[in-house]
Amino acid sequence: MNNYCSINDIDVLRDWVDQALEIKKNPLSDKSLGIDKTIGLLFFNPSLRTRLSTQKAALNLGMNVIVMNFNNESWSLEYGDGIVMDQGNSEHIKEAAQVLSQYCDILAVRAFAKLENREEDYSEKVLRGFMKYATVPIVNMESATGHPLQALTDAITIIEHKKKEKPKVVLSWAPHPKVLPQAVANSFVEMMSLMNADFVITHPEGVELDKSITKGAVINHNQEEAFKDADFIYVKNWSSYTDYGKIKRDVSSWKITKEKMELTNKAKFMHCLPVRRNVVVDDAVLDSNNSIVIEQANNRTYAAQLILKKILKNK
Ligand code: CP
Repeated sequence: MNNYCSINDIDVLRDWVDQALEIKKNPLSDKSLGIDKTIGLLFFNPSLRTRLSTQKAALNLGMNVIVMNFNNESWSLEYGDGIVMDQGNSEHIKEAAQVLSQYCDILAVRAFAKLENREEDYSEKVLRGFMKYATVPIVNMESATGHPLQALTDAITIIEHKKKEKPKVVLSWAPHPKVLPQAVANSFVEMMSLMNADFVITHPEGVELDKSITKGAVINHNQEEAFKDADFIYVKNWSSYTDYGKIKRDVSSWKITKEKMELTNKAKFMHCLPVRRNVVVDDAVLDSNNSIVIEQANNRTYAAQLILKKILKNK
């Protein structure tokens, strides 16, 4: 494997999950694979889990890690072709990506949606810029439209915890005071299409995802009905694809409560984190024995380590 930028880079998901679970049993088994190799972690947005789990994964493989926060440590980048750079941006992605490729054997990039212009966000200019101009493999650490490391983690976590061959998995929208990207939800929906799951999406009318991504998925606008007999409840807020970048108001009834979880088949509660307590989900759910969010976050390391291992073995 060269890049890991979307779910489409996965060939046989079940094999990947089994390999990640083997890594989890013995994370230091490939300690010499990455010796004298360097990964550059490039952040255009904040992170806790992605930054530290990817760093931990690289260290488990014996790699060196360099981190750069582009927003306050580097030159601001320009992306346009043939542009006259007489405005604010100081350096073109063309040079930046090639230069970074001199210092690093793998580059990992986090660049969220700005949620101002859908076409621009969905053009993925930052991730695609690095894919185009870098001369080393690229890993997507959450781009404008996808979070494939998170989705691989989610698949690992569901397969690890499922008690039946085909569990019912519900992706539920929940309220949030700030407008949030669609990346995690997009990748989760795509991942569910690779899994043997009875998959249902529930959200209020007006916060639809991109129809080309949800095509073929069951969507139920009645949250309580969707929760019935679910084995996993995966919760996330996202902004509407059509009413792009706007907050959905008066939706506190979509918060995840103990009463709603009681409609399920003792479902495991999942969230990618960070999560706003008592806005998205009540303490009683997040602190319950059925919440697996910490284990889910732990699995971020093994998902990242699997990806880095595959790339290193291919080099
Ligand atoms: N879930 C996730 O990507 O967490 P961070 O934003 O903290 O990296």
